[in-house]
Amino acid sequence: MSAQPSSPAHAGVVKAAPALLGSLRLPADKSVAHRALLFSAMGSGSAEIRLDRPGEDVLSMAGALRTIGAVRAIDIDSTGLVRVAVTGGGTPTEACLPGHGGETLDCGNAGTAMRLLSGALGARPATATLIGDDSLSMRPMERVAAPLRSIGVDIRTTDGHAPIVIRGRRPLQAVHHQLPVASAQVLGCLTLAALAAGGTTTIHLPGPTRDHSERMLAWLGAPVRREGPLTTVEGPVGFTLRDIAVPGDISSAAAWLVAGALHPDAHIIIEDVGLNPSRTGIIDVLRDMGADIKVASDGPTGDCPEPVGTITVDGGHPLHAIDLAGDRVADVIDELPLIAIAMAAAEGVSTLREAAELRVKESDRIRLVVDNLRAVGAQAEELEDGWVIARGVSRAAAIRTEGDHRIAMSFAIAALTGVAGTVDIDDPACAAVSYPSFWTDMERLIR
Ligand code: S3P
Repeated sequence: MSAQPSSPAHAGVVKAAPALLGSLRLPADKSVAHRALLFSAMGSGSAEIRLDRPGEDVLSMAGALRTIGAVRAIDIDSTGLVRVAVTGGGTPTEACLPGHGGETLDCGNAGTAMRLLSGALGARPATATLIGDDSLSMRPMERVAAPLRSIGVDIRTTDGHAPIVIRGRRPLQAVHHQLPVASAQVLGCLTLAALAAGGTTTIHLPGPTRDHSERMLAWLGAPVRREGPLTTVEGPVGFTLRDIAVPGDISSAAAWLVAGALHPDAHIIIEDVGLNPSRTGIIDVLRDMGADIKVASDGPTGDCPEPVGTITVDGGHPLHAIDLAGDRVADVIDELPLIAIAMAAAEGVSTLREAAELRVKESDRIRLVVDNLRAVGAQAEELEDGWVIARGVSRAAAIRTEGDHRIAMSFAIAALTGVAGTVDIDDPACAAVSYPSFWTDMERLIR
């Protein structure tokens, strides 16, 4: 039914699909790719990082590492597989980025790049400046600066935001730090600085987060342990590089899991996707709402510490409302705009609470989700820390994304599944921040 152009420069007009059928492999996981690139730049030796059709955020990290001389080459083959050749600045006993200092590193839209790089640069005895685009320059950065100061790094933000100027130091001093915010980016940032600190650093988290940093550093041989809310780092220490193949991104898969769950005629298979338990909350939420989703895990593959597998979703099952709050929110933090679409399709009234972090993502996602849901006819109410959503009478609307990739993709799925009427998305190209092949993959599934 859809006759949308299938190039990445998609026009952004999306209407209901008669059916959604097929199988997909997804672009490299954004969180894992950031870490694979950055940790390789800090280790000893050389490695090749393999990334399938990486998003713009991941390329921002690769570009920043090229600026300091850690990335030697970025090759792309005809299938979109990107091979990044990285040489680390560290030794077997000291993790450290290369470069002489004085560089300005552009992180683009990528919060993960800016926050993880802050920690890695804090452990390099040199100066660097981190900058980002307008959206990234609005996001809070004292949350990484304060823990880094506690371990001895000289770091200055601009009124709490980027540009950030870092004067790295050696040696740093191990600390016992209680993080006020449960953020994997902040935890990863302090962990990287702690690799250069003398003694045992302990970092306590107030809630669950994804554990990609701790998992990958341990896999590379660094003495980093995560036990529930507590992360321990024994420094100073280095590690030796390994080649890494990054699996598909479950946060990108989430678009098709929601589409498949909502559409009455859908059968979608997602292959080679990362199944880290701290990221699979989207499957549990959709199952709790009544969706039919099957998972087959192959475990870690040997060239990455992350478990990988296949997910299958079958449509045609009515969804019912759900209430989300507390620890469940962390597991689906990036998937909440898509979950809002599922809430607008479900029978009954759904709520989200304790999710104020959504206001400081690439956009204020609470405000944009609620405004756009109302525009497409759903019943939606904004709360300080979440929302209340119920089904409405769907209608066509223009969608305002403020350049936020997850808003663009969520409202495309709303239209595809009939939760919205035909939508006209103002900035369809922004999907490429995490999922460059989103629009072509959508065309492949429409029957
Ligand atoms: C990420 C952690 C999350 C997430 C972001 C990626 C990461 O942010 O929203 O998209 O790769 O560590 P917080 O750490 O701020 O929760």
